[in-house]
Formats: sequence, C-alpha cells, structure tokens
Amino acid sequence: MHIDIITVLPELIQSNFEHSILKRAQQKGLVSVNLVGLRNYAVSKHKNVDDYCYGGGAGMVMMIEPIANCINDLRSKRKYDEIIYMTPDGETLNQKMANTFSSAQNLMVLCGHYKGIDERIRELFITKEISIGDYVLSGGELAASVFCDSVIRLIPGVLNDETSALTDSFQDDLLSPPVYTRPANYMGHQVPDVLLSGHAGEIEKWRMEQAISRTKQRRPDLMAKFQGGENN
Ligand code: ADE
Repeated sequence: MHIDIITVLPELIQSNFEHSILKRAQQKGLVSVNLVGLRNYAVSKHKNVDDYCYGGGAGMVMMIEPIANCINDLRSKRKYDEIIYMTPDGETLNQKMANTFSSAQNLMVLCGHYKGIDERIRELFITKEISIGDYVLSGGELAASVFCDSVIRLIPGVLNDETSALTDSFQDDLLSPPVYTRPANYMGHQVPDVLLSGHAGEIEKWRMEQAISRTKQRRPDLMAKFQGGENN
C-alpha cells in the first residue's frame, strides 16, 4: 500500500510513522507513506494556502488552487483507490471501515485546517470524508494519523502474530477480554486461575465470556450488533 498525506504540517505527522508497528510495516515494504507539504503548491508569492471566507465570518478557509494543484500532481503519478478528506462532518471511522481500507493499493489523505477547505475541493476531488469522532480538532493531522494507524496495522503481514488483530476490540463487534502478565500474584491480587491452567479450551471459553460481559456492561449498543450478527 502507498499513502500520500497532504498537510501544511508534515512535522506533526512524521514521528507517528517512525516507531513501532508503523515503522516495521514500512521496513518490511508493506506500506510506504509520503508526507506532501501543501505549501509547495501555493500559488502566491507568500506561499499562502488560506484566505478570508466569502460572505464574511471568523476563520480562514483553505484555498482551492494549492490543493487542486497538489492533488492533480499526485494523480498524474498514480491511480488512487480513494481521495480522503479528514473532517468532523465525515463518516465516523470504525473497525469495519479500517478493514476495508486495508486492502487498498493507493490512498490519498487530505488534512484540513482553519475553518475548513473550499467546498469545491470536496465536490471536485474528494471521494471519501472521514471523521474520527464527534469533536473538533485543530487540524486534520491527528485524525489522519489515527486513520492511517488503524488501517496499516490491518495490512496482512504487518502484525507479527497474525491472530492478534483478530482478537482486537471491535473486530467481531465485541470488546477485548482482560489480559494479564507476570507476576501471577501482585500483593494478593491474583491472575484468574483459568489463565494459569494451560487448558486452551477453557481459556478460550473464559475469554469469550469476559468479552461478552464486558461488552454488555460497557457498550450495550455493540452487544445488540453482536447478537444481530450471531442470528444472521
Ligand atoms: N479535523 C478536525 N476535527 C476532526 C475530526 N474529529 N475528525 C476528522 N478530521 C478532523
């Protein structure tokens, strides 16, 4: 997979891809990430990428020309599965969407700033609009980082233990069961006996029961979805 991220603040995103799983995914050649500085496509002498809002009102708007020039330049080099705009009024990201995007070949991700982007960019270029939740961030960079992390870790071969993504919370509409590591006894607080039993079947059963009770308690909305899926 290749991902181009268009941003006015490449430094804000950079370090995300320089550690741990995302770093290894790139080293293994499973994904390449290119941070594209939007200011390089500015058309004015002062490299402005934003301007006043037509009709008045507070806040600046990202201009169409730098973004259009940038997208067109990238599109002349490869064909994109999706051109994504990170925005609080987009479709809320979930695990199912991350799964779908993880099989894409080429993704372009546009980070917004200020009051937003000129609406014509959305009409002319954007194929998907994604929000990471019902709150407003100062810019799309953190949202793009969250989106890319959720997608890249699902590319086959990225996680060492292939099964570990399958047991993530949300992967089957259930939250994950609790996990423990040594010591087995911390000041009288014991790890559940079943986990020390070595009995794979019992452990699996216990984990499923825990996942279900945790989901029932914390996310009844997910529980209803899980039960709906079971009955299908
Ligand atoms: N940009 C600002 N807030 C955002 C959000 N919640 N999701 C995606 N992009 C954003």
